[in-house]
Amino acid sequence: MRTIIEPFRIKMTEALPITERDHREKALVAAHYNAFLLNAGDITIDMLTDSGTGAMSARQWAALMMGDESYAGSHSWHNFEKTVRDITGLKHIFPTHQGRAAERILAATRLKPGHIVPSNSHFDTTRANIEYAGAAAEDLLTPEGEDIYSTKHFKGNIDLGKLERIIAEKGVQNIPFAMITVTNNTGGGQPVSMANMKAMKKLLVKHNIPLVIDCCRFAENAYFIKEYEAGYKDKSLMDIAQEMFALADAATMSAKKDGLANIGGFFACNNDQWAEDFRNLLILTEGFPTYGGLAGRDLEVIAVGLREALEYDYQRYRHATVEYMSSRLIERKIPIVQPAGGHAVFIDAAGFCPHLKPLDYPGIGVVNALYLEGGIRSVELGSVMFGRVNAKTGEETTAPRELVRLAFPRRVYTQSHFDYVIEVLDHVWQHRHEIPSHKITKQAPFLRHFTAYFVPGKVAAANPVKQQKAG
Ligand code: F0G
Repeated sequence: MRTIIEPFRIKMTEALPITERDHREKALVAAHYNAFLLNAGDITIDMLTDSGTGAMSARQWAALMMGDESYAGSHSWHNFEKTVRDITGLKHIFPTHQGRAAERILAATRLKPGHIVPSNSHFDTTRANIEYAGAAAEDLLTPEGEDIYSTKHFKGNIDLGKLERIIAEKGVQNIPFAMITVTNNTGGGQPVSMANMKAMKKLLVKHNIPLVIDCCRFAENAYFIKEYEAGYKDKSLMDIAQEMFALADAATMSAKKDGLANIGGFFACNNDQWAEDFRNLLILTEGFPTYGGLAGRDLEVIAVGLREALEYDYQRYRHATVEYMSSRLIERKIPIVQPAGGHAVFIDAAGFCPHLKPLDYPGIGVVNALYLEGGIRSVELGSVMFGRVNAKTGEETTAPRELVRLAFPRRVYTQSHFDYVIEVLDHVWQHRHEIPSHKITKQAPFLRHFTAYFVPGKVAAANPVKQQKAG
């Protein structure tokens, strides 16, 4: 059959808030035009993130009831450890409350000022934790990866030439480890090929530099390898994941993505000294090493979720949802990052709003228009998130791209929800010239996107759109 269906049926429902446009206008004013500050109860379709927002399976809910809440050595820990070891093959495994806790402890135990950590692209918390330790985070994407509209596969690949140059320039002694993020969230949810990871590993081995995989979306990446890389068609997603992890010296994971859990993460590594240092800081800030800041029931849920994420039918359906929306937006000539990524559709807000300059924050304009039109929440990944203000001169730098991400929570929305999102996007696209500029009226010195206040500028033309009901 050609139709790819959701490989599950629904046993429990959660009502969606259906709101009127005037309600949404008031909510957006109260949130100072920052979608992060909206109440979830005012949102119809929430595509802010795919992190921790998934629906659990019946097997996960059942496992949750089996949670062993013993402080140390619980059977839930043993289930968790066995699952993570089956998949990654790594020697030492530590649960953490989420991905950034693993990143923080790794950075605090291995990095010093002057160090450099190269990657295809660091996620913002990874970068922030590296910089917080006084080290530098380097993004080394290939030219195709940097090109929004290139339709090549594996645009998450690291540029090996750039990696080689940085090793020669900065010196092996200043690079305690290198990272690869699968899939590459910051660069449009694009996957990394096995060939690229193998070539990266070969280069790192030559220089004795360990490889750390940021494996938040490892199962989605495995699916891309199976579908699009020669030689993997007949392998299971588990086989592909194991082959990938065999290249790793360590891994950081947010189980809120491909752990199909609402909270959790882990760090895993082979090196005994790394493990010893990690364990000591983990006990200080997260918890005893057999729970690492999680409840026993969370460990059970993650153990089941990690295996479910590797089920082929699940990944095939998940990929089809992103592909479904992407292809319909491309048909309408709406500018998006291509090809479809693993967990989200990324709109090119600069292409969407050519009448706005980067410091008019076109991404915020698109995010707010989608909310006003249809109660949809998305997120700006552009000059608000990645731009920097010089504290002395007040001068503002802009981001290389102005993107808006519509992330797909796992197993949450159905095809008619996506049809609705496409209709809203189409409407906003038809009226794109009316999207106003925004100005920041209040901001924090770092991670300003979470709490900034905005005001919209004047709209070029009167808005002829009549009031619409969301949903
Ligand atoms: N690495 C990547 C590639 C991520 O996408 C995230 C989180 C993290 C690390 C940190 O994990 O949230 O569990 O601490 N990404 C979320 C997002 C927040 O919306 O993309 P965490």
